[in-house]
Amino acid sequence: MDRDSSLKQLALIVAGLSIGLLAAPVSHAADVASIAEQCAACHGKDGASKESTVPSIGGFSATYLVDSMKTYKKKERPCVETKYLEGPKKGQKSDMCKVAADLNAADTQAVAKYLAGKKFVRAKQPFDAAKAQQGKNVHNTECKKCHEKGGSSADDDAGILAGQWAHYLKEQFVIFRAGKRPMDEKMKPKLEKLSKEDEDALVHYYASQQ
Ligand code: HEC
Ligand code: HEC
Repeated sequence: MDRDSSLKQLALIVAGLSIGLLAAPVSHAADVASIAEQCAACHGKDGASKESTVPSIGGFSATYLVDSMKTYKKKERPCVETKYLEGPKKGQKSDMCKVAADLNAADTQAVAKYLAGKKFVRAKQPFDAAKAQQGKNVHNTECKKCHEKGGSSADDDAGILAGQWAHYLKEQFVIFRAGKRPMDEKMKPKLEKLSKEDEDALVHYYASQQ
């Protein structure tokens, strides 16, 4: 065998080994229902949140859920300190960075798939009808391209805005504007040019979808 082909062979072996290593974490998904129950202690049963500070996540796409968990794990997005609302840890403090850090990749995938199969339950919350109408217009010109069907489609892997808790959405606008949460390159200029009034109107529009 000449030197060139044995080098090639070596390269193939090394590549093979590193693929093997990447696939290595031999973690098997634990019982999905028990993981989902941990989420439910804050996010409500099947991700339908009853608390305005905690977003509803049932019915989100699995891709968005997995990506979000990765972002939290890497602490690339702020984790708001929060308390368990129910369950055995009720009253104890935690946050999404800790929750994401405690889950291995297989469990994250499994719970994301589970939650993606649930229905997104829209929050019952107050809104101003005139502001909602204004917000609808802003949404249709600036946001619709990526947040389809009034922000209700999970298929665009951009979360679900329609019927999400206003408190949570307002918080995310602040975090986005402060540059603390990574944002789609094309969403950035759209968000930055919004007036405070438009932003407020958008939140009323999403809240109006019940
Ligand atoms: C101790 C309470 C608590 C637990 C337990 C918890 N979460 Fe959260 N989660 C929150 C809060 C509060 C937020 C919103 C604030 C933030 O981003 O830190 C959030 C945000 C999220 C988001 C972002 C939603 C969005 O629209 O971008 C996802 C995804 C998420 N959680 C998934 C999960 C999953 C999956 C589990 C279970 C494995 C879980 N959470 C367990 C409190 C919790
Ligand atoms: C070019 C595509 C694009 C446009 C235009 C866009 N977005 Fe987004 N948006 C995204 C993507 C992708 C995400 C998911 C980001 C992530 O992974 O965290 C997102 C996430 C969000 C979130 C966070 C959702 C959550 O559950 O935490 C909000 C709020 C939001 N967008 C509001 C808007 C508003 C309001 C507009 C219009 C002014 C807009 N976006 C325009 C692509 C876009």
